[in-house]
Amino acid sequence: MKDFYIIANLKMNKSIVESKIYLNLLKENIQNFNNKIVICPSSISLFYFANEIQGMKLGIQDIDHREQGQGTGSISASQVKDICEFAIVGHSERRQTFFENNKTISEKLQMLWKNNMTPIFCIGENQEVRNKGFKAIEKHINKQLRDSLFEDSKWENLLVAYEPIWAIGTGLSASPEQASEVISLIHETVKEISGGIDVPILYGGSVNEENHLDFQNEEKINGLLIGSACLDPITFSKIINNS
Ligand code: 13P
Repeated sequence: MKDFYIIANLKMNKSIVESKIYLNLLKENIQNFNNKIVICPSSISLFYFANEIQGMKLGIQDIDHREQGQGTGSISASQVKDICEFAIVGHSERRQTFFENNKTISEKLQMLWKNNMTPIFCIGENQEVRNKGFKAIEKHINKQLRDSLFEDSKWENLLVAYEPIWAIGTGLSASPEQASEVISLIHETVKEISGGIDVPILYGGSVNEENHLDFQNEEKINGLLIGSACLDPITFSKIINNS
């Protein structure tokens, strides 16, 4: 069976105390470890998770594009490589709020590979681009991929997440067909850049208890990146157990 990833992005939620309760409830309720489960809590809780997260993997929600040093408030890959296997980079919330561009994101990817971590590299179009039709979406996705990935990228350590911005936190997920259409394009473009190597491509954007299997049943979708629906550990464990 091919690996299927279920990744929780807890975003800017949960205090340290709440994180402990969350992880305990998750562990009590998960019965199905057939898929790769990755939890990306707030950085304040990473250390606690690292010691307690048995059976699941740990990811950080973002990293700095530099190695170390003068980066007040930032965390570098080299600081967390001992406890985190994964890191989300290029999330649209970082691109929008912190004006991160494809070049910075490319530097973050390099930094992660240098530290033997696996990026969960997020890309996706906004509503304006979607309204223009598939050609515009194709152009946007192609640029995001080609500006950040190169032939000598570390392809064996890479997950790409297609997260259409209009579907994030809105309750309006893409349809499984819409997601598959773009994800097929991502698979093809990645193979073109890499010279034939394919990588797992995930979908994210308003995935929930009701719709997650529809995405999982799509052949080209290799995992899910979940925000709102992972905040309640009971709901999230149901998604994991039913997957
Ligand atoms: P939602 O599941 O809340 O739409 O968030 C998705 C997301 O941004 C995961 O990174």
